[in-house]
Amino acid sequence: MPGKLAVFASGSGTNFEAIAQACADGRLDAEVSLMVCDKPGAAVVARAERFGIPSFVFNPKDYASKGDYEREIIRRMDALGIDLVCLAGYMRIVSDVLLEAYGGRIINIHPSLLPAFRGSHAVEQAVEYGVKVYGITIHYVDGVLDGGRIIAQRAFEYDGNDPEEVHRIGQKIEHALYVETIAKLLKK
Ligand code: GAR
Repeated sequence: MPGKLAVFASGSGTNFEAIAQACADGRLDAEVSLMVCDKPGAAVVARAERFGIPSFVFNPKDYASKGDYEREIIRRMDALGIDLVCLAGYMRIVSDVLLEAYGGRIINIHPSLLPAFRGSHAVEQAVEYGVKVYGITIHYVDGVLDGGRIIAQRAFEYDGNDPEEVHRIGQKIEHALYVETIAKLLKK
């Protein structure tokens, strides 16, 4: 049976699209059963529509607490029988509510070689620091920001000072590495 994925995103959704396309092409024996987005109007919402993938788009301000909207997400994921939760530019820390329900089955992609440059401006900070080797990390999600056990990393060299260029190079690697890593995890 193809693995059932939920992909969480807050913005552009290029990683979401890479995963959805790999499923559509048969390169990944899986289906994206749900896209979850905390930013109504984000570009990822239109991408999900183009793929015909059901989405849950919400505004956190409409809920009394993070636990409340996470319980709603869990209800929807349980109903679909989700195997693996892939955070792909989901710019929120997940709480114990989600971790208790799906802990060990939630992974995240981050645009640095962790544990260097955690947080939401990793590429800019790495360029500012002047590093020469950049990279991408996929890791399990626990209660610590960008902190869980590392599953995969891929490095690349760059000797310049343009964060946009690093983003461009890094995103190509992200798209390939995320698909490969999901495939390996679903086979386990
Ligand atoms: C990705 O580059 C991902 O590594 C980053 O957000 C971007 C989302 O791009 N995530 C983080 O910085 C997490 N701390 P996308 O919306 O085009 O997939």
